[in-house]
Amino acid sequence: MWRTFWRILIGLCLDDDGDGDRLLAIAIAIVKMGSGPMRILVVGSGGREHTLIWQLKREQPDTQIYAAPGNGGTKALAESVPLKPNEIEELADFADSREIELTVVGPEAPLVDGIVDLFDERGLKIFGPSKTAAELEGSKAFAKTIMEKADVPTAGHRTLTDYEETERYIRERGAPIVIKASGLAAGKGAIVCQTVDDAVAAARSMMVDKSFGDAGTTVVVEDCLVGEELSILYLTDGEHAFPLIPSQDHKPIGEGDTGLNTGGMGAYAPVSIADDALVGRVTDAIVMPTLAQMRGEDRIFRGVLYCGLMIVDGDPYVIEFNCRFGDPETQAILPLLESSLLDAFQKVARGESLAGTDFRFSRRAAVCTVLASKGYPGKYEKGKVINVPESLADDPDMIVLHAGTRRDTEGKLVTDGGRVLGVVGLGDDVSSAAAKSREAANAIKFSGKYFRGDIGYREIERQGRS
Ligand code: AMP
Ligand code: GLY
Repeated sequence: MWRTFWRILIGLCLDDDGDGDRLLAIAIAIVKMGSGPMRILVVGSGGREHTLIWQLKREQPDTQIYAAPGNGGTKALAESVPLKPNEIEELADFADSREIELTVVGPEAPLVDGIVDLFDERGLKIFGPSKTAAELEGSKAFAKTIMEKADVPTAGHRTLTDYEETERYIRERGAPIVIKASGLAAGKGAIVCQTVDDAVAAARSMMVDKSFGDAGTTVVVEDCLVGEELSILYLTDGEHAFPLIPSQDHKPIGEGDTGLNTGGMGAYAPVSIADDALVGRVTDAIVMPTLAQMRGEDRIFRGVLYCGLMIVDGDPYVIEFNCRFGDPETQAILPLLESSLLDAFQKVARGESLAGTDFRFSRRAAVCTVLASKGYPGKYEKGKVINVPESLADDPDMIVLHAGTRRDTEGKLVTDGGRVLGVVGLGDDVSSAAAKSREAANAIKFSGKYFRGDIGYREIERQGRS
């Protein structure tokens, strides 16, 4: 009888080709069952990272998450690790010693610095593009070259390294014109100039005065595109790419999109101008050719490809590529996701194909309003006590996501950055989601609180017209 039992068991374990892959998979599953909850490391400390952690916990509540370094809000969901995103060697040591099964990187700088290559060398699973692929964000000059070779629609431009030549080119092209530091400049390196004098001053400040350090020694001078901005993020294995729901960021500090540019004062999804036909065009004319060009140059792009687009008379043009999730777009996108992000992360981290992935989204809307510190994006004070009414947590249509917050020595929640919190409202359409988001924004108190009350206004105007 035992002989028959073993014969049946072995038969079940062997594949049709008898090479034992199934046996190996079963053995791995048994070992995993015995090794406790999955351990994930999320690198970063902003609202985007809090949202990623919130999403991973929502999908798999028993996951053990570590946040490096996290913020005052991630503490409820993840253990804080006192490491900064740029400490990539130390992060690899941590992942190794704690047997982290998946690392997810929020900000661009460690990706551009090669955190993925380092983790790969050490046999650690990580989601994100390699150093050479992340150059798509790390160097705007490189991104422009790839777009040119792949025939991807983008603003006309010239890449320059000599200041006198740059000035001549600006005067020749006229205004409005956009001056961009080629390297990473914490989202502040693009200046849209309405006059030639402003453009020349911007180029001088970057190239001569080194206002962005080495990031501005090469500049990209771009034609100014006029239209509506749109963000579409794709999860990609380097070959296949799947869009998340399109969203729209609000970069300027003031209502009606006025004043200085910030890291983003709010975002919403869905955006009705981004219908299936438009997303299809972005996939076919922008994302697929870019990924193919990257593969052709042996820079396979795996991870999130963020397409910052300008829609001009209905046609999409790339204004920037990022190599990571957007902030605050992620805060508006993920609450609407109804399928698994973790599956996609794991497949990409293992070098597996994403073929057949289908991200499903709720038919509702999400609006994220950012609560900032008075003075941001200029100077601001920190350490202001934050009061978040407990009732907000009971409302299923409100999510409070932290960015620049921390717990002080007494355990009180205090402000610790320019962008402090992101409050997401959910609703059946953008205007009801925006109303929920504003309700939460008004209910939260801290000294010097500032927020834009008009997040989603373009969509709400469209709703009103239809
Ligand atoms: P970037 O850092 O490239 O995303 O640019 C920051 C912001 O500058 C964008 O979100 C746009 O609002 C604006 N911008 C960048 N490039 C252009 C362009 N070619 N034409 C018009 N606006 C632009
Ligand atoms: N929201 C703009 C960015 O993440 O770059």
